[in-house]
Amino acid sequence: MNLSKEQELLVADYSHITYNRDYLSLRNIRRHSYTNTFDHSVRVAYLAGKMAEYIHADVDSTIKAALLHDFCLTNYNEENDHPGWYLFYHPVEAAENAEAFDLTKQERRAILSHMFPMAMVPTSKIGWMITLSDKIVAVYEKTYGVKKIKDRSVYFLHRLAFR
Ligand SMILES: [Fe+2]
Ligand SMILES: [Fe+2]
Repeated sequence: MNLSKEQELLVADYSHITYNRDYLSLRNIRRHSYTNTFDHSVRVAYLAGKMAEYIHADVDSTIKAALLHDFCLTNYNEENDHPGWYLFYHPVEAAENAEAFDLTKQERRAILSHMFPMAMVPTSKIGWMITLSDKIVAVYEKTYGVKKIKDRSVYFLHRLAFR
């Protein structure tokens, strides 16, 4: 599955993050069956940015934190010796790696809480938009290949959120 034109524009606009060598390596980590962690993060950022616009929150900060929400370099699809469960450690490592891009306290907390309710509760609009956008995008990506669903609810989501 590809990124839309608008999402490709976002990649270019945030090149200080998206062209970073480590960040680009997220393209090699498969995610949700049909995509990779780089494209997934761009979709989450695009949708969260739209939500931020809608509720008059800080769009730039939302997009930045959303781009970085899964910035963990462990490939969880392959056998690895990382201790613990990816589900729990990836937000912590993403926040640590994202410090290279000068996070605000709020952006850091938003990254740490994006796995809510499996992680801490989001405490800002940014945090809530990222956790919500992440879940919507995950459903869309997971069900991308299911024709029956694609023809109905997810197609609707696709039109609403991704174009
Ligand atoms: Fe995540
Ligand atoms: Fe995610």
